[in-house]
Amino acid sequence: MDLMEKLVSLCKRRGYVFPSSEIYGGLNGCWDYGPLGVELKRNIKEAWWQDMIAHHDETAVPDGAPRAFGMVGLDCSILMNPTVWEASGHVGGFNDPMVDCRETKNRYRADQLVVFRLVPQNGATASGEIADDEVLFASPGEAGKTADEALLSPHRKRVTALRKKLGELELVPVAEALADAQLRARVFAPGASQPGTLTAPRAFNLMFKTHVGAMEDNSSVAYLRPETAQGIFVNFKNVCDTARVRVPFGIGQIGKAFRNEINPRNFTFRSREFEQMEIEFFCRADEAEQWYRFWRDRRYDWYVQLGLSTERLHLREHDADELAHYASACADVEYAFPFGISELEGIANRTDYDLRQHIERSGKDLSFFDDQEPDKDQRRFVPHVIEPSAGADRATLAFLCEAYCEDEIGGETRTVLKLHPRLAPIKVAVFPLVKKDGMPERALELYRSLRRQFSAFYDEKGAIGRRYRRQDEAGTPYCITVDGQTADDGSVTIRERDSCEQQRIAASNVAAYLEERIR
Ligand code: GAP
Repeated sequence: MDLMEKLVSLCKRRGYVFPSSEIYGGLNGCWDYGPLGVELKRNIKEAWWQDMIAHHDETAVPDGAPRAFGMVGLDCSILMNPTVWEASGHVGGFNDPMVDCRETKNRYRADQLVVFRLVPQNGATASGEIADDEVLFASPGEAGKTADEALLSPHRKRVTALRKKLGELELVPVAEALADAQLRARVFAPGASQPGTLTAPRAFNLMFKTHVGAMEDNSSVAYLRPETAQGIFVNFKNVCDTARVRVPFGIGQIGKAFRNEINPRNFTFRSREFEQMEIEFFCRADEAEQWYRFWRDRRYDWYVQLGLSTERLHLREHDADELAHYASACADVEYAFPFGISELEGIANRTDYDLRQHIERSGKDLSFFDDQEPDKDQRRFVPHVIEPSAGADRATLAFLCEAYCEDEIGGETRTVLKLHPRLAPIKVAVFPLVKKDGMPERALELYRSLRRQFSAFYDEKGAIGRRYRRQDEAGTPYCITVDGQTADDGSVTIRERDSCEQQRIAASNVAAYLEERIR
């Protein structure tokens, strides 16, 4: 089993993540969080809310000078007036190019199908010229990110035959092959018995459509929001009028977003229903670049503080040709998942694009008036926006991947989730060593008092070693055991998950001990 398979299996076994509506065969791209998963995800969202919104450090230092800025929250509805999505450009342009295989009935995102040719490795025929009888191959995989072997695997039989004829082969990508009818006719789709079964790419809008009210006609069309951001933009004036904020300031929101992804995959990584944690940070145009760098670095640091290793976490600036039409700069925080390096969060400089679109479409004044600005000409302006946009499900998956570990303790292999204590679903488990001599009573009393402050778990079933292992798999950072000595001197043992080291402390000090290490 590779790491991803092991993780998916642990998530199911321990109640982190289940396939949605599993007893009816599931629904592709939808997932349910189980008792441990919901706590982990809540802790991630709570850490984000506390660190970015509620308790954020009010003085940032973008390029030298410390600056105060406010952060406030919002919780907008998922259904919005459909004009919002016309103004934002989603109705016209939130599309992915889709291709179907007529033979296998599989559906792909054209930009995620890598089309390549196989040429002898000496490179003699690796020129751009494609011979008339040459076949091409298509494989799913993030372009440029997938190993050759993974790209070849759906075509194993044909590749083996070609290797017999030509020796070792080199993969040469063929750009735009699917858009060209002649080239497309030569492409073998994954699992197809003949070439030419893929359709031409066509635009597919990712928004889920529904109808509001009793009438199902064009006048009642509404969309499930594909991002939480637009709820913030359309409330900009409401927040300015009510929250006593002054630019620069940010508005944050956590909430569900929906996208009819053509090809949901990689467990929860690409889902059709997911949660975003988004900030729209409003600033003056001439300060936007500094704030962009500030947020990019701050968001990267946040993941590191919560345990993602800098070896697996990367900041990648987009090239100019990758930028969305509204963005003047964008960086992705990427994580090296077991299935490849992929985006966790995007930080974009969205300029004044969104506010201007909504000003034009709604006819409302969404400018900001700064009555403390000495220069009268500079008092009214439309702010620019820096947007750090994170996915709560992708963050959850990254923290799980990072935490998953198999090590050997006392000659026995154990599986352990080394989650940051702040994120761990259960902070402390309490066990009586055995079910007699008053130990369960004393352990229950301690458990009940700890529960008021921490997410705690009580377990008296099975051998103590097995109880420790169960908590290791659940990622619980501390286990406390009440034993024979507890009755004599009021002490208990406390075991630390990662080192497995145990020490004796007074039961009355346990809460303070945990408080210091978890908060
Ligand atoms: N408001 C900007 C925006 O929505 P995005 O890059 O499309 O930008 C932001 O999405 C984040 O939302 C991504 O970095 C990712 O973490 C998360 N996300 C996007 N699509 C997702 C999907 N299908 N499944 C899970 N998370 C997704």
